[in-house]
Amino acid sequence: MTRPQLLIDTDPGVDDALAILMAHAHGDVAGLSIAAGNVGLEHTVRNARVLVDLLDARTPVFPGCATPLVRMPEENAAFVHGRDGFGDVGFSEPRNEAGGEAAALALVRLTRQRPGELTLVALAPLTNLALALRLDPALPTRIRRLVVMGGAVTGQGNTGRIPAEFNIGFDPESAHVVFEAFKDFDLVDWELTLRHAFDDDEFDGWLAAGDKRAQFYGGICQVARRTNRERGRRGVIVADALAMAVAIDPAVVVRSERRAVAVELDGRLTRGATVVDWANRLGRPANANIVLQLDRERFAAMVRRALGVD
Ligand code: BDR
Ligand code: CA
Repeated sequence: MTRPQLLIDTDPGVDDALAILMAHAHGDVAGLSIAAGNVGLEHTVRNARVLVDLLDARTPVFPGCATPLVRMPEENAAFVHGRDGFGDVGFSEPRNEAGGEAAALALVRLTRQRPGELTLVALAPLTNLALALRLDPALPTRIRRLVVMGGAVTGQGNTGRIPAEFNIGFDPESAHVVFEAFKDFDLVDWELTLRHAFDDDEFDGWLAAGDKRAQFYGGICQVARRTNRERGRRGVIVADALAMAVAIDPAVVVRSERRAVAVELDGRLTRGATVVDWANRLGRPANANIVLQLDRERFAAMVRRALGVD
């Protein structure tokens, strides 16, 4: 497998952190464009810089939009990720600096400099990407692939609105712009995430056996694991890591189905839902390759290497 060339839009975020560790272990990372989402932009930018220091990397960090495009969000995810987004461990000020270029502009520039090369991995509310698309509608023609972590394809979301998943529900208008603009992207949704949680004991074994990356991750994931347990969710849940696995190695996908997927923008109870035309009733062209099953062993091997276990 040749090393994938990755461009990552992210709101770190505990599971974003694991995805970013995977990206650096298995591929080359052209940049981290940063969104607000799990917590505020000042935290997500700082957390990305913490990761770059941890990895002794030179990956550029581009701060993006501090709010969704249209409506202010109803909730963030600090109760899962910690008030600072990294489990409230309390890291000292990172050595590296964030870049001066806005995330949307960096997405446009990098894809122009390297047409056809970059796999774009969207792990956050889609605000930066929507803005980039409005600046440059030809952007989809220049990327190799788009992988999105978002949505709940049968309506079992994880936000205050039952069918809405967090990344889409935080900024539905941006998700709408992206889902309309891209004709063919991989969609890794919340329901897939719940079906692919890691066993707690197995994961703890990796954390104990790994290097400084495992130690770091073991620290930041405590709040999220406790919150998920309290909510009756089983195992170690790592949504963004699944999307990264699909971006790094498409062969990790065991089963997927291509369908038309749209985002609900209104709806008293349904704003932010991803509406899938499962039976192709409207005859609209399929835009999303909905990932339904991953090869667990292959996925686990990618995560273990990212934590320095193997
Ligand atoms: C998604 O929302 C965020 O809380 C996670 O980082 C992930 O990107 C899961 O719904
Ligand atoms: Ca995320």
